[in-house]
Amino acid sequence: MSGKVTTATIRQMKSEGKPITMLTAYDYSMAKLVDDAGIDMILVGDSLANVMLGYDSTLPVTMDEMVHHVKAVCRGADRAMVVADLPFMSYQVSKKEALRNSGRFLKETTAQAVKLEGGREIAETVRAIVNAGIPVVGHLGLTPQSVHQMGGYKVQGKDESAAKKLISDARAIEEAGAFCLVLECVPTPLAKLITESLSIPTIGIGAGPHCDGQVLVIHDMLGLYPRSSPKFVKKYVNLHEHMDAALKQYKEEVTARTFPGPEHSFGMSEEVLKKLY
Ligand code: KIV
Repeated sequence: MSGKVTTATIRQMKSEGKPITMLTAYDYSMAKLVDDAGIDMILVGDSLANVMLGYDSTLPVTMDEMVHHVKAVCRGADRAMVVADLPFMSYQVSKKEALRNSGRFLKETTAQAVKLEGGREIAETVRAIVNAGIPVVGHLGLTPQSVHQMGGYKVQGKDESAAKKLISDARAIEEAGAFCLVLECVPTPLAKLITESLSIPTIGIGAGPHCDGQVLVIHDMLGLYPRSSPKFVKKYVNLHEHMDAALKQYKEEVTARTFPGPEHSFGMSEEVLKKLY
């Protein structure tokens, strides 16, 4: 556990101007890769619904499904802080439910923090969770759980009133006790202004280079997904292409009986074999 990233580490990184790295992961082997690469924070995002479970929004994923995946991620994360995303309707109904579900993540999975979407309207919920000793990451800008209310996945805070609301929401989430804030799909100058006006770090996704840290969905940045990605995604590798080629080669070799070869097979003594015929 020594060297584990904590909320204190994250606060200190902001005060020292050190960029914070965050990626999503949803299972043990991916979490281990991310952890071994020295990434500071692993988010088990509710994007699990899209990239792992095949839903077309984040809305259907349940607490039980999230807990199952967060547990696996925690087993692979020795150094990185694991943040568990509270899924749609796990915290909106009442503070009591928000507390119970946040508590489930810490008790059942060993995650160190929870994330939830929203501004001033959920500030009291954030305060209640923090008061229970559970670190909270806020999430503002494009909040995918409100996709129907927002009328689609669009950049947020572009006009004056929307930008002022975002600034005020960010302050409300900071005042409520969140230790970190994700800003998704926010114009670069607005994300800069928010970052400079908060004492807690901002982690951007589609929010430009001035945030205190960056996060991406791992399937997007590794090119694991054949779909077209949003503008803010940088594909560091096209793993889908490599995996597709490997799978097709496997099919060809099995069909042509060139796999398995002697180097993948086990022998036995001729003497024993003779006795079997
Ligand atoms: O669920 C998720 O992956 C997220 C990131 C996009 C920040 O919330």
